[in-house]
Order: sequence, then structure tokens, then C-alpha cells
Amino acid sequence: MNILSIETSCDETALSIVECSGGAKKPQFKVLKNLISSQIPIHRPFGGVVPNLAKREHIKHLPKLLKKLEIRNLKLEIDAVAVTVGPGLEPALWTGIEFAKQLAKDLKKPLLGANHMEGHMFSILLPPVKNTDNFQFSISNFQFPAIGLVVSGGHTMIVKMDSYTKWIKLGETRDDAAGEAFDKVARILGLPYPGGPEISKLAKNGDPKAINFPRPMLANKDYDFSFSGLKTAVLYYLRDLRTTNYSLQAKRNIAASFQQAALDVLIKKTMRAASQYGAETVFICGGVAANAELRKQLAKECAKRGVAFLSPANEYNTDNAAMIAAAAYLAKLRKKTYKFVADSSLTL
Ligand code: KG4
Ligand code: ZN
Repeated sequence: MNILSIETSCDETALSIVECSGGAKKPQFKVLKNLISSQIPIHRPFGGVVPNLAKREHIKHLPKLLKKLEIRNLKLEIDAVAVTVGPGLEPALWTGIEFAKQLAKDLKKPLLGANHMEGHMFSILLPPVKNTDNFQFSISNFQFPAIGLVVSGGHTMIVKMDSYTKWIKLGETRDDAAGEAFDKVARILGLPYPGGPEISKLAKNGDPKAINFPRPMLANKDYDFSFSGLKTAVLYYLRDLRTTNYSLQAKRNIAASFQQAALDVLIKKTMRAASQYGAETVFICGGVAANAELRKQLAKECAKRGVAFLSPANEYNTDNAAMIAAAAYLAKLRKKTYKFVADSSLTL
């Protein structure tokens, strides 16, 4: 079936058409169209996403993107419309839901709901359109049980998947999400929003061992995380320097040391879950999975232990609508339905 999907949970307005087939045992996805309109330049001056601005931009861009899809000229049938119902920013979610309701009505097609976090999780099933690095996607590597590290700007969690329709959340962050920590530390260092790519760029030329930042909750036996203390440690480190006039190399070292502290916790806990549950596959997804150093180091750990490692193509790590079609398809297969109401705290 062909699903036209809509994503507006945060600061990306996205529309896709995805051909979904294969059923719950062997789901297969072909991304036919994938349009994204990013609001990053709009939110940048504010250092983060402003919900009402996000809403205004979604309302502006949804009809534009739909026009660009040219569905009337496409030689294919749309079988359903899908939309993210949560989690995310409520005003932003509503714009997508209202738009999707009207579109489904106009097209006389059913409307499906989708969980944004399931979208990130199933982004692993989307074949790459362009390969951005050496981590070749091959779904044939996907064996269960699988351990997934879902790391975005709003969430950080470890999941155990026993099939494409059965999974449990093993743990999650108790405060800031990993991406949020990258964004906040970037702001402390005077870097623009979103901070993740800025920190990773700076970190490339820094020494990850220069400063021994804390590795929060590393020793705990559970799979929960906490990143707010790490952010505060960076803040105190800078305060103790007693100058704002530190060198570029000092900045690079702070970025690299912070990044390594965050990565150490993410990687250690993921690998611990992989060995406790005898994982055949480890995967990462979500905006922070775009971090090349995280992928490189996690891939190395997996190779050491003979576990397959997968990460989606980068274009599907950050928010997109193709992953929403995948999540809606799998939700439909397990007969999961959603109310078409924005649910900002929807969880996995
Ligand atoms: O998944 P996503 O696009 O949106 C949410 O659902 O939150 O994730 C955005 C987050 C931001 O916090 C951004 O700073 C982070 O992903 N991010 C990165 C990198 N690229 C994006 N974090 C670390 N390293 C990166 N290269
Ligand atoms: Zn997301």
C-alpha cells in the first residue's frame, strides 16, 4: 500500500509517499517521495524551538509541500494518509493532525495515526537514497532480539525488539535527552542551534581526553540515563576558567571531552543491554545517531562482539515523514489505532 505521511511534531514540516509491503514479518519500504522543509533558521535566533513559531511555519509549509508532491499527476494510488499524533510540541502536532484529517477527507482515504518514536525506531527499515558514510544498510542483517538506542533532541531510550511488532523499553533519560544536552552545551559555548552538529564539528579537532567530565549513571545497573549533570559540569568548568576569552583549541577540547563523556554512557549502556539480552543486532536512530563518532565507536564495539550494527541513512535519522509512514504501516498491521488528538507525551 502507498501511504502519504505527514510529520510536524517539532521544527521540520515533512511529507512523504512510501510504498509499504511485506507484512509484519518482512516489512519493506520504498520511499517514493520525501520532502522536508526545515525551520532551523527561524528558531536559531531564539537558541531553540519556539512552539508557536513552529505552528505558524507548519501551517505555511504544509500546503506548499503538498502542492510539490503533485499527487494528481503521480501515476499511483494513495491508499492511506498517516500523521504523527505524538510525542512532540502540542501546537505543532495539531497542525499536522488537522491538515491530515482534511486531506484524508478530500482523498476519501483512511487516516492512520503514528507515534513519532516508533517512526525513529522504524527509520532503520528505510533504504538509503544516498549513502552518507560507510555504514551500509542491509536489512538482511536485522536479526532478533535487537537492541536499539533511540537518541533524539527530545528522547533518549534503549529498546529491546523481539519482532517488528513486539518491543519493550528498557530505560530512558530521567532528565535531559542526549540531543538536548548537545544543544545546551553548544549554547554554553556560544554555538548556534541545533548544537549537535556544531559540537561534533568542533570535536573533530579536539582532544576527547583533555577534560575528565563525569559519565552520569554509568555504574547503575539499569538502562536509564541522566544528562543534565554533564551539562552542568561543562558550565562549571567554564566558570572556573574565569575567562570567556579561551582559545579555539580549548573550545575544541571541551566539545570533544563533553561528546566523549556522553558517548561513553550511551555506548556502554547499549552494549550492556546487548550482552544481557543476547542481541543479534544493535541499531541506533534519531537525530543524535547522525553523530559520526557515535556510529563509529558503537560499530567498533559491535564488531568486537560479533553483533550486527545498523544505523539509518542520515537523512532518516533527523525528523522526516518517511519514518512516519513506516510506523503507521506497522501500527496498522498490529491493529494499533490512535485518536487524532495531539499527545505530547506519547511514549513507546
Ligand atoms: O530526531 P531529531 O531530528 O528531532 C527530535 O525528535 O528531537 O533530533 C534533533 C537532535 C538535536 O538535539 C540535534 O542537536 C541532534 O539531534 N543532532 C546531533 C547531531 N546532529 C543532530 N547530535 C549530536 N551530533 C550530531 N551530529
Ligand atoms: Zn524526532
